[in-house]
Amino acid sequence: MTLNIIPQPNVVTPGAGAFVVRAETRIHAAQSATAVAAYLDEWLRAATGHTLPIVHTPAEKQGIALELVAGSDLGSEGYTLSVNGDQVRITAETAQGLFYGVQTLRQLLPPDAETPSAHPVDRTIPAVDIEDRPRFAWRGLMLDVCRHFFPVSFVKKLLDTMALYKLNVLHWHLTDDQGWRIEIKSLPRLTEVGSRRSASTKPDKRSGSGEDLTDVLDGIPYGGFYTQEEIREVVAYAQSRFITVVPEIEMPGHSVAALTSYPELGCVGQGYEVRTTWGIADEVLCAGKESTYEYVEKVLSEVVDLFPSEIIHIGGDECPKARWRECPHCQAAIEREGLNDEHELQSYFVRRVEKILEAKGRRLIGWDEILEGGLAPKATVMSWRGAKGGIEAATAGHPVVMSPNTSCYLDYYQAEDQDSEPLAIFGFVPLRRAYAFDATEGVPADKAGFVLGGQGNLWTEYISTGSHAEYMLFPRALALADALWAAHPRQDYTEFFERLQSHLPRLDQLGVNYRQPKDADRP
Ligand code: ACM
Ligand code: ZN
Repeated sequence: MTLNIIPQPNVVTPGAGAFVVRAETRIHAAQSATAVAAYLDEWLRAATGHTLPIVHTPAEKQGIALELVAGSDLGSEGYTLSVNGDQVRITAETAQGLFYGVQTLRQLLPPDAETPSAHPVDRTIPAVDIEDRPRFAWRGLMLDVCRHFFPVSFVKKLLDTMALYKLNVLHWHLTDDQGWRIEIKSLPRLTEVGSRRSASTKPDKRSGSGEDLTDVLDGIPYGGFYTQEEIREVVAYAQSRFITVVPEIEMPGHSVAALTSYPELGCVGQGYEVRTTWGIADEVLCAGKESTYEYVEKVLSEVVDLFPSEIIHIGGDECPKARWRECPHCQAAIEREGLNDEHELQSYFVRRVEKILEAKGRRLIGWDEILEGGLAPKATVMSWRGAKGGIEAATAGHPVVMSPNTSCYLDYYQAEDQDSEPLAIFGFVPLRRAYAFDATEGVPADKAGFVLGGQGNLWTEYISTGSHAEYMLFPRALALADALWAAHPRQDYTEFFERLQSHLPRLDQLGVNYRQPKDADRP
């Protein structure tokens, strides 16, 4: 019997027989596992039409048991799941481990169990013994809500799908040149002004070039942002699925929406407009004025209040140095601090931001450009321009998250024949390449421990609807989930491709859109 679980568990031993979930089945759970038991109960209620009582008495021989155990060697996310004719038993050291056991259990039922059943129905779970824990602690997806805005309902649906595949980090790209999407109460213009743009670039092959192509503007005002209440709602929803939401507040580049709101934050100090085209802007935060650091302090104070994540993403990518070269404030800072050039000024900027975060008990992560001019002492690096930056940072003893555009950019084309696909930014990351992603590839063996994991990134210049976003995310995100969880680097694409087949109907049942693999994706 093939069980087709994604991500692939470490050890799977099929047994004989099956457990049948009936109206009289009970869920036994310790008090401290109540939330996970309630999650399982709610799911099983939909799958079976039975309301199963949760009881806090010790597990009996019969029924479903969720048990927290100490000293099991499973780690903070591992679990065991054992199913026989009498019992379903999940053990873990933490509620998170139990939650992952529940997700595996879910996948032992057929896809139609994902849809609420109109009539009570008994469900059969095949006998099996599973022992499981993830290879990497950081298993993420990044969602860009700046180029296009996605409502809370979409983000929650994404969190639900992530939970099913044991992904545990949502990197939320909340600010950029084309829109500021998070309410900051002490700086109200960031959303009053910065969340809106006068038009967007129409989908056009040329617009990925980053040129200002005014002939392709649609003339339609566009905007949107999350209130702090909505942010808290998303964070709580994610927490109950053991997903950490890592906010990204871009600086010093990709900040035109902030500059439009508060022009004094820029070197030139005037003439900014929330960008209507994609690409990279020369207009960036002034790294020489004290008021810039006061702005950063204000924004991050509210950000750390909203997000419990220990690590906060500060962007740091694609910051042209043209304005800094001409700016008296920036040049004065270079002089005063004894810096060699504008790259070192960027490093000075990031170090100051790291201190601001440290004072709030948080750590900093930034894109691999933060290596240029010298890495801040405790920074974590997110490697996107291939794995090179990540390898360099890990070698220097810094934590790293790998999201190389060669394997992990889910805004890139899924087929070599671009005309057969919806317009995308460029690139080519087929399913098989996402599957083959190995986050420690190229990292010296004795430094591999610095690689926290990896993530898929969804930039949304060319993606304006939830359904299109899901089309780009899935099924590639399942391949990445496999690559980040399974015990060993992925090699058997044929095996994965077959395992994937039973997940496509499950996504159908969940109302999640995806790209149907084509001939070219076959093993
Ligand atoms: C990036 O893709 N600019 C991080
Ligand atoms: Zn300046």
